[in-house]
Amino acid sequence: KKRIVSGVQPTGSIHLGNYLGAIKNWILLQNSYDTLFFIVDLHAITLPYDAQQLSKATRDTAAIYLACGVDTSKASVFVQSHVRAHVELMWLLSSATPIGWLNRMIQFKEKSRKAGDENVAVALLTYPVLMASDILLYQSDFVPVGEDQKQHLELTRELAERVNFLYGGRKWKKLGGRGGTIFKVPEPLIPPAGARVMSLTDGLSKMSKSAPSDQSRINLLDSKDVIANKIKRCKTDSFIGLEFDNPERPESNNLLSIYQLMSGKTKEEVAQECENMNWGTFKILLTDALIDHLQPIQVHSGYAVVIEQQPVTGGLTLATLQSS
Ligand code: TYM
Repeated sequence: KKRIVSGVQPTGSIHLGNYLGAIKNWILLQNSYDTLFFIVDLHAITLPYDAQQLSKATRDTAAIYLACGVDTSKASVFVQSHVRAHVELMWLLSSATPIGWLNRMIQFKEKSRKAGDENVAVALLTYPVLMASDILLYQSDFVPVGEDQKQHLELTRELAERVNFLYGGRKWKKLGGRGGTIFKVPEPLIPPAGARVMSLTDGLSKMSKSAPSDQSRINLLDSKDVIANKIKRCKTDSFIGLEFDNPERPESNNLLSIYQLMSGKTKEEVAQECENMNWGTFKILLTDALIDHLQPIQVHSGYAVVIEQQPVTGGLTLATLQSS
């Protein structure tokens, strides 16, 4: 079986972007692949954090994985920091990583620009090397992620190739090394829709956990009222009717895409259904679709926490969480 790995950071609330870009796709993949899904707590400490909150968020994130349908009889679910080898491999890989490759990472540039050099941890720079370790450690074939992780995946591929060249190739074999490839070169799996869910308050920026306003995102555990309110207040435009793919209408494209994925309809069906619709009618439709889709997840995430507190069934998930 081909192998798949992926993970989400346990910072703040898991939002619709994390779900549509990553977690929702894991559920299908776990049926046909050997899957490992982890909670990347070590990535979450690269920005200032509260230890107690992180511990809670780690458990809550695990509960959300399970509530979304990750099945521990098929997938391995665990906390990144519980497997020391991630960090050990990171040190080895760091020694093969040119610093220029990391300086070029868009996420690093964005995050460090905001904070300023004196406030930026070295780990924020080396963060993609840890991500590469998460992936290469397991000789993964595919990595299902959202669009914003594409560059990190590209770096992972280049690192794998570099290590294979430096230490695994024929050159090294002649000198007594093992030869052959050391790391499999993984490929990203980026979904055709949902790979870049945009903010509710600005259709040109990504929905993100770190955006200061909670109005900009739908969290998976937002109550019905909160969802209704966020959709009521979200940014729209003054065009008539709704349409996909008009660069002048990023909000229309984003909200239609969300509706498409929440309702399970095709893009064509949604385009037709909403072609002549006004924003008021559409917002009601979208709110209902969001609530219908998210409610079962919310109910299950409550159960998942209860099971975790009284582990009876064993298995990797429960055992690892229990010892945390
Ligand atoms: P993180 O925690 O920022 O995001 C988790 C996943 O959600 C996706 N995502 C989005 N998808 C669509 N629209 C959005 N607005 C949106 N925002 C986030 C991300 O692309 C990601 O798939 N470094 C990673 C976590 C990581 C990882 C790994 C992933 C660490 N090691 C190994 C895969 C394999 C991160 O911070 O994701």
